[in-house]
This record gives sequence, structure tokens and C-alpha cells, in this order.
Amino acid sequence: MAIEGVDQGRRRFLTATTAVVGGVGALAAVVPFIKTWEPSARAKSAGAPVLADISKIEPGQKVTFGWRSLPVFVVNRTQPQLDALKGEDSRLKDPNSDNTDQQPTFAKNGTRSLKPEWLIVIGICTHLGCVPDYFGELKPEPFDPDWKGGFYCPCHKSRYDLAGRVFQGVPAPANLQVPPYKFMDDNKHVMIGVSPQGAA
Ligand code: FES
Repeated sequence: MAIEGVDQGRRRFLTATTAVVGGVGALAAVVPFIKTWEPSARAKSAGAPVLADISKIEPGQKVTFGWRSLPVFVVNRTQPQLDALKGEDSRLKDPNSDNTDQQPTFAKNGTRSLKPEWLIVIGICTHLGCVPDYFGELKPEPFDPDWKGGFYCPCHKSRYDLAGRVFQGVPAPANLQVPPYKFMDDNKHVMIGVSPQGAA
């Protein structure tokens, strides 16, 4: 987990600092050594969890947050969008999220999420890594006359439904990945990069 990585980094940093001060006792000699061992701010933030404010995301809207240099899509799904998920199974490659690499166990369910209305997925196509576009409306689209909302990858035409589940007959092999995340107590923020306590 990202937080553990940061803690370990700090621990290494403290160990290195103690050893050098004890052995040399000269601050001038210590400083360059610390700089070598201290994780850069960039390295720390690269793996750190991200606090996302979801309070202003309208029903049906998608907002993208950055985490580990990846786009993370957060969609506030409406009831019609949620209802549409139920009729898609026969068109999907992995409707039940059986590929355990693609989500934490807490998201192995019909909506692939902790709370039904909130979809949180990494916005990277599982084919060759393009960023899919969000088509949230339940209406025919040029690429699918039976479209019921989801994501369309413009690179090689892979399609995903509103739970990030990949359709059959497209090059992407797997569902969009669900990152670890948890809701904060105020229900207005989500911490991306950390699973809820006790969840895998
Ligand atoms: S990268 Fe998305 S379909 Fe190829």
C-alpha cells in the first residue's frame, strides 16, 4: 500500500541518519548523505493516497483524479444507469468480475464498487493503455446501437459498461481496474489508494 511505502521510507531515512551521526558526528558530512537517502518529495507523492473531493460531482457526471500518475475516473451513477447494468451480462467478457487482478475483493459485486452510485476505476484501457472516453447517456451511439452508457476507447474501439466491464468482441482483454479506495467519514471525500479497514 502506498502509505506503507512512505512509512518504510521514513524508517530507512531515520536509520541512516542515526548511523551517520553516531559514526561521524559532523553535521557537514551528514547532510549530503541524508540527501542521498531521503526519498524525494516526488517519489513520496507518486505512491501516496489521494484525497478526492466528490461532493460536487453531479448525478451522471464523471470527474477524473490523478493517482500514481494514473487517471482515476469517478462517476456518480444515476438510478437509470445502475438499472442498465443488470441487462448487459450476455454481452460482457467477465460480467461477474472473476478476474481477481482487476479489482479488490470489496468490488467483486454487480456494481464493482463499495457504494452502488459511485464507480471508481482507473481510466486506462486494458488493451494497450489509452484513456477511454466517457459516454454516460443511455442512447444509441455510432459505435454501438444498443449502448447503455459506459466508456469507449478511441484507439482500437474497446467498450466498457458503466461498471467498467469490458464487452465481448473488442481487443481489450479485461475489465477496467478498480483501485483500492475508501470513503471518508464526511461522505464528501474518497481516499484513493487505501482499502477500507478489514477489506482486501
Ligand atoms: S488501447 Fe484501448 S482499444 Fe486498444
